[in-house]
Amino acid sequence: MVSETSSLPHAGAHKRLIRALRGETGSPPPVWLMRQAGRYLPEYRALRRLAGSFLELCYDPVMAAEVTLQPVKRYAMDAAILFSDILVIPDALGVDVSFVEGEGPRLTPLTGAADIDALCLDRIDDHLAPVYETVARVAAGLPEDAALIGFAGAPWTVATYMIEGGGSRDFAAARDWAMREPESFQRLIDILVAATVAYLVGQLRRGAEVVQLFDSWAGVLSESEFRRWSIAPMKVIVEGVRAACPEAPIIGFPRGAGVMMLDYVRETGVDGVSIDAALPAQWAARTLQPHCAVQGNLDPLCLLAGGARMIEETRAILEALAGGPFIFNLGHGIVPATPPEHVARLVEFVRGWRS
Ligand code: CP3
Repeated sequence: MVSETSSLPHAGAHKRLIRALRGETGSPPPVWLMRQAGRYLPEYRALRRLAGSFLELCYDPVMAAEVTLQPVKRYAMDAAILFSDILVIPDALGVDVSFVEGEGPRLTPLTGAADIDALCLDRIDDHLAPVYETVARVAAGLPEDAALIGFAGAPWTVATYMIEGGGSRDFAAARDWAMREPESFQRLIDILVAATVAYLVGQLRRGAEVVQLFDSWAGVLSESEFRRWSIAPMKVIVEGVRAACPEAPIIGFPRGAGVMMLDYVRETGVDGVSIDAALPAQWAARTLQPHCAVQGNLDPLCLLAGGARMIEETRAILEALAGGPFIFNLGHGIVPATPPEHVARLVEFVRGWRS
């Protein structure tokens, strides 16, 4: 058995990422990047070719642990984020999930309440055991000062993939279902909440030190829908994870939530909030930082472009946010065409920052 590092009260307390999430101001602030492991890295592409399908890579603890550590080794990031995907949860619930090269995820879409009743929570932990094994391996191989972040998709975002059968432009099928049949939609959300709590606690017990919830499509919801399908389930997840692992900081990422970010932070009780590139950094410093740590928010396309513009934008973000609890990151994931040297330049610049 691997020791339950995250349940020790002071494990990892010296790490820059953990300190920021406890409300400390770091100079320089910690830095990691969403999708830091992935196709922009040649060492990822090489391993990906050996793995077969993307899901096989997610469920292979040896390869997934290596991929998780690749960007940490290359850039000495302050955190590793578990290499997996938000869609392992529908997969574990019995939905057919596959990734089509160049097209993204494909799922057998849910078509009615009977499909929701057929989802099965019993197999979650068995099915996800290889992911927990990846977490244990990464925890054992992690550099001393880097923290290990576990993650899951937030229920609304995962539900959109399950109803649409994949990605979507407007999420019309999912929003229509939620609007017309809120009772059965609530049942789906409740199943996802239960699965997500079990999954995150499973990761924390094997050595993850922080968890992040990705609500990538929160921005398409109206105010009332956002309260019901993003804030409310997130509050239950935070309570569930805290009941089992009270020390573990939790980061929420309700992408595109705009001014609703404040209610999200206050009502869910997250320790940190990740902000997208459209949210003004100074607004976030004034409005959100008094309540929790803020993470973000360089535009991934600015990282793709690199050069003086990238440095200017990064400086503006640091000037706005590095005076309080802050984690430097992007506003969304690294895009595959990003030159790895741009990431090196960015990390070097953030590391040289003194408030
Ligand atoms: O480095 C990391 O950030 C850790 C790994 C990670 C992946 N997916 C690996 C991945 C994380 C945190 C995710 C989260 C995820 N997955 C989200 C939320 C964050 C976001 O981007 O909004 C979402 C919506 C998904 C669902 C998903 N997975 C899509 C839409 C796609 C296809 C798009 C694409 O980039 O290909 C994936 C596939 C995926 N997940 C890849 C990786 C590295 C690429 C697949 C490959 O290598 O063939």
